[in-house]
Amino acid sequence: VFQRISDQGMPIISVDNPQASLELSLFGGHVLSYMPKRDNRQRLWMSPKAVMDGSKAIRGGIPVCWPWFGAAAEPAHGFVRDQMWQVLRVDDDNDLTRIQLQPEFSHLAGGGQLELMLELLIGEQLTLNLVTHNRQSKSLRFGGALHSYFRVKHIDQVVVDGLSGAYMDKVANRLVEETPSPYVITQETDRIQLNAVSDVHIREAGQQTAIGFSGHDSIVVWNPWQDKSAQMGDMTTDGYQQMLCIEAAITQGIELAPGHSHTLTQIIR
Ligand code: BG6
Repeated sequence: VFQRISDQGMPIISVDNPQASLELSLFGGHVLSYMPKRDNRQRLWMSPKAVMDGSKAIRGGIPVCWPWFGAAAEPAHGFVRDQMWQVLRVDDDNDLTRIQLQPEFSHLAGGGQLELMLELLIGEQLTLNLVTHNRQSKSLRFGGALHSYFRVKHIDQVVVDGLSGAYMDKVANRLVEETPSPYVITQETDRIQLNAVSDVHIREAGQQTAIGFSGHDSIVVWNPWQDKSAQMGDMTTDGYQQMLCIEAAITQGIELAPGHSHTLTQIIR
């Protein structure tokens, strides 16, 4: 485990153990890449036009959205994905590296009462535990997401297995629809899957990525497709063909009593 400063002046933590390699930006507490050595396949997608100088959230990898999801308030997806984080602890146990980190909360008045910690367990699988601790004297209602961008060979070839039940369609006025089967992506897709299943697979010819979830109330599936990508400054027009976001999410909100904590987990295999 070592720290370096990127070309754009941002601190990056690199992990390389016998099972996997990973890169983590302290701006955003943001995982940039994860590659298990079993197959040396990069699991995460990073936009070729991602801004990495700390001026905005990074497009790709695993943005941490907290303490709300989406445009519920400003800024969209909460305020920790564009804050500096600090490492609290690193444990290196040969095959497994554990890193715990915390955002700096610089612009939050009374920030000390809300506590957030991200724990990464880096080995033959990658586990992310996002722990919210309510240190306020009143209950806390919060949301968020581990907004993972998965790398795919080509979006046209992808089948998503494991999703079921109703979803809310954000590209069709939040209409509630029934999950399709087979689950393929053929257009702009922005869905809040309301059935919080615990296992989803991204299946493509010759490869599969397994994603495990807990502590979530929904799973978000997002691909901006061509037109939306063209409107986004940090996407290339055809970048959408190599990515699919499948996010462990709290979109409906969780009520946390004073003194209690909650863990949102995503596991990538
Ligand atoms: C998804 C949302 O999680 O994130 C989409 O469901 C949103 O509505 C997308 O467009 C990207 O958000 P942002 O703020 O990173 O551009």
